[in-house]
This record gives sequence, C-alpha cells and structure tokens, in this order.
Amino acid sequence: MEATPPGELLQDAAQRAIAYLQSVPHRSITPSPQALLRLGELNHPLPQTGVDAREVLRRLDEIGSPTTVATTGGRYFGLVIGGTLPATIAANWLAAAWDQNASFRWTSPIAATLEDVSLQWLSDLFGLPDGVAGAFVTGASMANMSALASARHALLSRLGWDVEAKGLYGAPELRVVVSEEAHITILKSLSLLGLGRERVIRVPTDHRGRLKIESLPALDDRTIVCIQAGNVNTGDFDPAAEVCRRAREAGAWVHVDGAFGLWALAHPAFTALTEGLAMADSWATDGHKLLNVPYDSGIVLVRNAADLRAAMSANAAYLAEGDAGDREPSHYTPESSRRARGVEIWAALLNLGRDGIAGLVERTCRHARSFAKGLSDQGFEILNDVVLNQVLVSFGSPELTRAVIRHLQSEGICWCGGTVWQGRPVMRISVSNWATTEADVQLSIEAMVRAARQLHAESSA
Ligand SMILES: Cc1ncc(COP(=O)(O)O)c(C=O)c1O
Repeated sequence: MEATPPGELLQDAAQRAIAYLQSVPHRSITPSPQALLRLGELNHPLPQTGVDAREVLRRLDEIGSPTTVATTGGRYFGLVIGGTLPATIAANWLAAAWDQNASFRWTSPIAATLEDVSLQWLSDLFGLPDGVAGAFVTGASMANMSALASARHALLSRLGWDVEAKGLYGAPELRVVVSEEAHITILKSLSLLGLGRERVIRVPTDHRGRLKIESLPALDDRTIVCIQAGNVNTGDFDPAAEVCRRAREAGAWVHVDGAFGLWALAHPAFTALTEGLAMADSWATDGHKLLNVPYDSGIVLVRNAADLRAAMSANAAYLAEGDAGDREPSHYTPESSRRARGVEIWAALLNLGRDGIAGLVERTCRHARSFAKGLSDQGFEILNDVVLNQVLVSFGSPELTRAVIRHLQSEGICWCGGTVWQGRPVMRISVSNWATTEADVQLSIEAMVRAARQLHAESSA
C-alpha cells in the first residue's frame, strides 16, 4: 500500500473541513439517530497493520462529521459556547503544522512572542494595570485554579508561609469568600488547592444573581474573595468596585471569574457592569467563549506577576536554557508541554481589532435582547434582566419548559439547554457565537414559539 503524500492528505483535510463548515448553517444542530448509529463502526479492535492516512481521514469525516454537534454554527445557544472566527481556524491549522511546544521561548520563540503580545493587548483592552502577568491555559476552570493558586501563595507568603514548599500542613488558615452563585469551577479549584469546596463563606445573592454587598463579611489579609463578571445563568456582575475597595483596605485578595463577562470591558456600553473589575488582583477568562477562538483556550491574569510565577514555576537542570530576564511561558502555567494557544488568541485580536471585539460583544448582547423581546412579545416570561448575552425563559409550567427544550434539541433548528433559576426550571439561551445573525435569532424564536404552542396544545387536549 502506497502512503498518501502529506500535501495531498492536507489538501483533502482542508476540503473536507471547508465542506463541513459550509454545511453547518443548513444541517441539524444535533446528529441524526442514523448518523449516531454509524459510531459503532469505529468500535473494532486495533488493527495489526496501519490504515493509510487518507482512509483514516475518510472515516473520520464520513462517520465523524455527521456525529458532531454543530456548536460552531450561529444557532447553537447551549452552555456558553463560542464559535470559531475563520482567522482563528486558519491560524490553528498553521499552528498544528508547526506543532510547537509552547513551554519555553527556546522551544518556540514564535509561541512565546505571540503570548507576550497577546497578553499586552488583553491587558490594554481590559484596562488592567501595568505589569500584569498571564498565561494561556485550557479554559476558565484552569484559569480560576491558577489565579487561586496565586492568591494562596500571596496571602500565605505575606504571613511567612511557603505553601509551595510546605503545603497546607500547619499553614496559617485562609478564609475564602464566594457568593452563593459562584461558578462550580471556583469550588472545584478550591478543592484542588486544598482550600475546600465547602469550607467557604457563602454570601447571599439578589434576584439577579449578584453578591449582596451588605452581606459581605469583614475582610482581612487572610481572605480571598471570589467575585464574578458574568453569572452563568443571568449574565450579571457582582459589585466589583465596592468589593475591591473593601478588599484593598483590608489587604484581602479579589479574584474575578470572568469566563465570558470580562469581555464586556471591551465596550463602553457595559461600564456600569464592569466598574471596579480592574481593581482586582486576578482574573480568569476564556478565549473559546466570546472571543470565538477554537477549543481549548483560557487565560489567567494576575496583577502581581511574581505571585503567578511563584505558584507555577518549576525548574530542573535540563530545562534551564534561555535568558533569565525573558518571560518563559511554562513558569506561569500549571502544565509543562502545551500547545501554542496564544496563536489563535493573537489571530482573533489582530483580526478583530478593538472595534471588532467591541462589536462582537455588543452584537451577541443585542441578539440576546432580541430573544428576550421576541419571546416576551409572544407572552413568554423572561426571568433575568438581559444585561449581557444570557437569557432565561419560561414557557409556562416546568413540564412545558422542559418539553420545549427537549423538542428543540431533537428538532435541530436551534439548541438551548435548561437550568434551574431561583427554584424554577427554565431554558437558557446563551448568544456567544460571532456567526449568529438576526435571521438566526428570528428563526430560533419561531422554532421556540411553535414548539411551545404545539406542546401546550397537546398537553391541554
Ligand atoms: C462563569 C464561568 N466560570 C467558569 C467557567 C468554566 O469555563 P471552562 O469550561 O472554559 O473551563 C464557565 C463556563 O461556562 C463560566 O460560565
């Protein structure tokens, strides 16, 4: 068997990928049952002799492409899933060909440089102080974890304790304050860091999911406060300015989980929500949500570079190359070997520019407001103030709302998930994709209204 030449193979892959992307606007978002049945064909023993790469690709495309969920299209509104700007897919393809290990400047000067540049751009875009350090990680989960590791380091080292060396055995006690609405990844990070997911002070929240400032306990220099920019259900923001002011006075650390909401800093229309965010000590956000770069792509930013570095840096004789003064990426990340995620972030930032980023955030939020208006005009209840890109809707009874979600998911015109908001089962709409158009929104509203009316009529019959 003749092996397919690499050039031919990659041309074939590009054509298949392009055909896939072109099919997405016209196909069902969820895979059909027939397509899913074909997944069984992949389930065979490892062959003794290898299969030619072209045939590998053919199987992947013919079985795999129809069994994807078309999250990259403009009518996917589940979780907080962004799409992929064409510039970022292209950058990702080239970066795959480079196959750089982004650990060090000497393993990849280009990856390290794109990280430096992107960090500077992000820091400017978000209005963060000079000297902020950052790292490119898998997602906001790992960004939250890295930021909280920096917080743990900073507070304990000020108390004379070297947590990286000695762990938490016998360490001075830290207090962690979170809101009742803190994202699960904050709690998971606390558990990974030995700070305990239940050993936290939980501050009550208001009807919009915002931390109630009047219930914030007194802070001190042993306290980490986690606030959020963008509640995963309502999209709302905790009162950062007042939390940060109190934390500054007390010597406490404020971490902002801004997985998608931090991008609101890119547009002046959101100033009332974002006020004070830049005063925090650390921030976590995602590239794969509102910035629309491919998975997996998260970013951690820490005000005092030394804190992130101290929490993450590890050395061995065989790794000590390069100039001591340079920023070596792996000294700021939990991983060692790592793909060059900065490539796509850089491509997105450069391709969009400040105006394009602001426009992307503004557009997704405008579409969210269109959803809210369109659905409430049809008599359905919107449960949140649509301040960003998230919409919570009830179609009537909990059963009917759940039935509408199931119907939409199997119909395949648009995709939304469910959640429970303040005790009520609701449907969540998250508009996070650059490709969503007003026509997508209207088509989706029609599908939702049709489903709700039909299911209501069936249940009343
Ligand atoms: C507020 C918030 N924090 C953290 C995360 C986790 O992000 P990731 O899945 O990228 O790790 C999410 C995901 O939606 C989120 O909305």
